[in-house]
Amino acid sequence: MMKKQWIVICLAAAVVSLGVTGPAWSQAPSKEAMQRGMQAQQKNMSMMTPDVLEKANALSPEIKQFLLKVAANHSRHSETLTMVQVMQEMLADYQAVGAAIATDNGEQAADAARRIADHRLPRGGMLPYLPLEKVNTKDLSVLPAMEMAVEGSAKRLAAAAEKGDMAGAAEQFGTMTSGCVACHAHFRGQPGTTPRLKK
Ligand code: HEC
Repeated sequence: MMKKQWIVICLAAAVVSLGVTGPAWSQAPSKEAMQRGMQAQQKNMSMMTPDVLEKANALSPEIKQFLLKVAANHSRHSETLTMVQVMQEMLADYQAVGAAIATDNGEQAADAARRIADHRLPRGGMLPYLPLEKVNTKDLSVLPAMEMAVEGSAKRLAAAAEKGDMAGAAEQFGTMTSGCVACHAHFRGQPGTTPRLKK
């Protein structure tokens, strides 16, 4: 618990120290994108079971606005894929970025990093896949910092890699990774555990 909180605080500090005014992630969605986001949001809500819907409705206006912006800023909303499937696709792109940086392939790194920044959104949105007790304003308030770490860094990584600045890209790769790590520490825990083993 302490370790997780520490990771989140460090991440928030790193994001603040990088400056939150960079153009990569502060782009306000266009009016059309916002409308698409709103439609997606409504559709997601209509698919939720009452337990998570109640929790979603109780979120603060700031978090709702943030989730709306995420839905608006992402162009690919899947009708079928689960969050784990989306994550596995992100992992494949993440590995592609790592390989490309290591082999001085700025074009491949930039493409794969942009796919991470515009990763698919799972069927029903993210909330139904989180542990129910984590769907509250306090726990979700860490999301903007994580989004900045992953998607902001992915966009800066792409820009650096395209210019042939592979050292800069490698640095952003580190910040992006800290976003994966922090979010997993906060929302996921160890994957694949079984109740059929003694503690
Ligand atoms: C918004 C928070 C968040 C961010 C950011 C995030 N993940 Fe995840 N990830 C999750 C959650 C939650 C799960 C478990 C989902 C489930 O079990 O339904 C998960 C699961 C996964 C899985 C499936 C296997 C496992 O370990 O559970 C992979 C692979 C994965 N993430 C990779 C990544 C990579 C790579 C990044 C960074 C590029 C990343 N994730 C960023 C929240 C996040």
